[in-house]
Amino acid sequence: MEKDIQGVLASTEELSRICDRLAAEITENYRDSGRPLIFVTVLKGSVFFAADLIRRIPLKCELDFMKLSSYGASTESSGFIQVHLDLKRDVKDCDVIVIEDIIDSGRTLQKLKQLLSERGAHSVRTCTLFDKPERRVVDLCADYVGMNIPDAFIVGYGLDYSEQYRNLPYVGILKPSVYQK
Ligand code: PRP
Repeated sequence: MEKDIQGVLASTEELSRICDRLAAEITENYRDSGRPLIFVTVLKGSVFFAADLIRRIPLKCELDFMKLSSYGASTESSGFIQVHLDLKRDVKDCDVIVIEDIIDSGRTLQKLKQLLSERGAHSVRTCTLFDKPERRVVDLCADYVGMNIPDAFIVGYGLDYSEQYRNLPYVGILKPSVYQK
């Protein structure tokens, strides 16, 4: 697996520091909200980030999951988004924080924010580990961003290429030879 990686984008230590910073910001902002706080983790890529982030937030909160699809097995967003797994609970009047591993075109998060707002959430904010602003095709800015990154194909810490590499404990840049076959 390691032989397919051309360089490290974010080491395990850097990822830990990002989680510390974002958790502190979120804790401060929601400490006195008085409303139920729900973290919506978007499967699958966000699971490690969500687990590390939420464990650093000492507030009462709930955790739920959604599975949406936008990429399939290729490296390009299709523009079509489907909900494969939905929330188990009603988000009406709740504060929702959507946790993503990466924002690319922005379509997935835009669609999800709209959906959760339509369901009556009091607030819907977004927290992403990585952001590729130069790839954006819709008007969307995340509220909490771990790191802005260039348009490289990255894997690890949940991020995949064709379902592989999610278990790397850091985030690496995939060698183009792996996906330019
Ligand atoms: C990735 C990522 C986001 C979405 C971002 O998920 O986790 O959900 O794509 O792309 P966009 O900004 O262009 O909409 P993916 O569909 O690869 O699923 P996965 O997390 O299960 O790998």
